Amino acid sequence: MPETWANQEIDLHLELAGPRVRAGLETALRDAVQAGRLRPGARLPATRALAADLGIARNTVADAYGQLVAEGWLTARTGSGTWVTQHPVPARGAPGSHQPDITHPRYDLRPGVPDLSAFPRRAWLAAERKALSVARDHVLGYPDPRGLPQLRLALADYLARARGVTVSPSRVVVCAGFAQGLALLGQVLRARGATTIATESCGHPGHRLIAEAHGLGLISLPVDAGGAVPDGLSAGGLSTGGRSAAADAVLLTPAHQFPLGVTLRPQRRRAIVEWAVDTGGLVIEDDYDGEFRYDRQPVGAMQALAPEHVVYAGTASKSLMPGLRLGWLVLPAPLVDEVVAAKEATGGLTGSLDQLTLAEFISSGGYDRQIRHARLAYRRRRDRLVAALRLQVPHARVTGIAAGLHALVELAGPDSEDDVTARAARHGLAVEGLGHYRAAGQYAPALVIGYARPPEHGFTTALARLCAVLTGAPP
Ligand SMILES: Cc1ncc(COP(=O)(O)O)c(C=O)c1O
Repeated sequence: MPETWANQEIDLHLELAGPRVRAGLETALRDAVQAGRLRPGARLPATRALAADLGIARNTVADAYGQLVAEGWLTARTGSGTWVTQHPVPARGAPGSHQPDITHPRYDLRPGVPDLSAFPRRAWLAAERKALSVARDHVLGYPDPRGLPQLRLALADYLARARGVTVSPSRVVVCAGFAQGLALLGQVLRARGATTIATESCGHPGHRLIAEAHGLGLISLPVDAGGAVPDGLSAGGLSTGGRSAAADAVLLTPAHQFPLGVTLRPQRRRAIVEWAVDTGGLVIEDDYDGEFRYDRQPVGAMQALAPEHVVYAGTASKSLMPGLRLGWLVLPAPLVDEVVAAKEATGGLTGSLDQLTLAEFISSGGYDRQIRHARLAYRRRRDRLVAALRLQVPHARVTGIAAGLHALVELAGPDSEDDVTARAARHGLAVEGLGHYRAAGQYAPALVIGYARPPEHGFTTALARLCAVLTGAPP
């Protein structure tokens, strides 16, 4: 039966369809936001008032609000109520994101995003307040395209200490995430006459698109248990056009291959560096989650083997949050000016305030604390994932090293990745198949499970649903 709720601020028609009142209320509110009947910034009635008006339990309303806050539709401010989020969740993945459009899954184990509820808001705000209060006025003008000196200094210290990178601040260029860093490198490589870049045959599809958008043809390097097989770097690799080609550059995830989760063998690291030295080729080391190793000390950056031939690339997207859009390149000396010129030419400067804050956050030890905290939390989640699958779904094997924010779960049963993903959606769970990342070659069917993604309170249920999906249990 349709129910109507109104107060003096907004007039809202809510249809609570079906026997499940909470789910009905969630859907009705979500629809109202999506259709624009509840506008961004509108204040929702107090849970008690709406519950009384609809004749349902107050907890039901509170739970429905809580779910919509978790999904990003609503914002809760302690002491002042619940509001429609100013920037409602887009209906599709953000431009350039590799996320498929799954309509608001209740539980999400897709890779690529850390636990956003664990972003250290208070510490970040404290760092921001401090950074802004001491910043001289001129720092608030147009920022240095290389990145603010404070941040480049803090990053150089951190990367040398934590990742073994050979670095001085003058070699660091701050960028809007690795995505911009790769785009700038693509531009510079193309301007230098490069035509071809090798990528791992399973990898981030968005990165292949960025390389292609800058005029580079792709060669795929197979990936096995020892990481990328470098043989195809010299002529003999198969390009996108199907012809034999030598690479001018190679993009790798050596510390923790994305998404297969293996490390690049030391002999292969050396072979790839030798290729770069011999041919003048460029290695791009995407160290997106290098700090997150659980079974031993992280392997240091490959860049240290040949700093004049390897670009080291890092990002705050896994350690803090992707929405910051902060990343960094450590460049061979001859590339610095060209990358900076490309950055200036595209107008893609990086905002000063976030840079100042990150510099303060790193220098004050907040970044190290956050990494230690996240490392422990994600390590526990990975252990729980492995233990739950071993117990409940013994045929589903977890492969890859104990590291990072995702794990590969091989599907041994008859179901395809698409079957499993569709079944998961019926359980309210979003998962992604390995096929989404495959550019070439054959890999056993698997799911790429982003165990870091759910908020802490949602992980247990997300894991239980994954096990149910993999055992074929009905929703
Ligand atoms: C392999 C890989 N590298 C790097 C990144 C980080 O990209 P960005 O810094 O542009 O957010 C991601 C994020 O999903 C990734 O999967």
